[in-house]
Amino acid sequence: MQDQTLGVRVERHKGEAIRKALVDLGLFDRSRRIRSTGSHISLPIIGIDEESAHQLRNIAEIEVVEEPFQIIDRRISIEDMLGFRPSFEVVGDIAIVEPEGSEAIASALMALHKSIKTVISPISEVEGEFRTRRFKHIAGIPQTITIHKEHGLYYRVDLESAYFSPRLGTERLRVANQVRSSDFVLDMFAGVGPFSLLVAKRGARVVAIDKNPLAVRYLKENAVLNKVEIEVQEGDAAELARLYEDQANHVIMNLPHMASKFLVPAIKATKGSGIVHYYAFAPEDGLYKDIELIKAAAQSIGSSIELLYEGVVRSYAPKRYNVTIEFKVGKIIS
Ligand SMILES: C[S@@+](CC[C@H](N)C(=O)[O-])C[C@H]1O[C@@H](n2cnc3c(N)ncnc32)[C@H](O)[C@@H]1O
Repeated sequence: MQDQTLGVRVERHKGEAIRKALVDLGLFDRSRRIRSTGSHISLPIIGIDEESAHQLRNIAEIEVVEEPFQIIDRRISIEDMLGFRPSFEVVGDIAIVEPEGSEAIASALMALHKSIKTVISPISEVEGEFRTRRFKHIAGIPQTITIHKEHGLYYRVDLESAYFSPRLGTERLRVANQVRSSDFVLDMFAGVGPFSLLVAKRGARVVAIDKNPLAVRYLKENAVLNKVEIEVQEGDAAELARLYEDQANHVIMNLPHMASKFLVPAIKATKGSGIVHYYAFAPEDGLYKDIELIKAAAQSIGSSIELLYEGVVRSYAPKRYNVTIEFKVGKIIS
């Protein structure tokens, strides 16, 4: 049975004035529901003294009552627990807290999100040719391997040995929505496969390239895990893309810190009217500056480009953004 707690009963038409006065007096109990009893309402309060009751009676005729005010079932937020909102992202059952996690943050996260079993924090930038990060363990199961679900597909990832970011999920879907089942897609920097598998699931033929042997291992595992067929190539995309010249309807170039170095093989791999999905890091005051590099690369091999789309994918540092530039490759002038 609901316990009886204190309240103030007042005629309905005076209810709002009394509620406001109770809030001003710091007496209104926000954790419980207002009760309605026909011509009157009862407002839950945390307590009342003579002086406050007197003030209320100057506004309306009130009666102090004890009634079964229902508790409002509000979920406690992480701000309620910590007094601030830490920056974190969740990959599978691992929470990555940035820049630095603590025991208190980890306990709050694990208490609020029962699916989080591990809390880690990065101790390096995304670095090196394979774009990996090192992490320190903060709490829970010491692990960096997990299974992440995105757009209905499962990805086994080791956060320390291959790149993966859930923050690109929306962008991956945007690209996949442009791909038809009859298309051939070349994913030049495939990682553990989040672009490749998503487009392959829609029936497209996909060649997925990555230079990192561990990324390739997970990529193959993930294809099996999701019952999706893709052709996996381990090695340098600049070399391997040559095997697919004039073939691809879509070329995905998700290597934002140096994609410009691979523009020529990417453009060559596209079939007439093929689309290149290019990613870069750029400053706020020059978000799409790489367009000039794209035009120059195309011109150097006698191709032309038509810009189709430019957009910010996410911010990744103060005043720096991960952007995408999509362009159609025009016919080769011989
Ligand atoms: C930013 S990650 C993107 C991974 C994946 N597309 C994703 O969205 O999660 C870039 C990937 O390119 C790979 N890579 C770097 N240089 C490469 C090269 N020259 N040839 C092929 N892959 C390369 C890295 O190993 C890494 O997995």
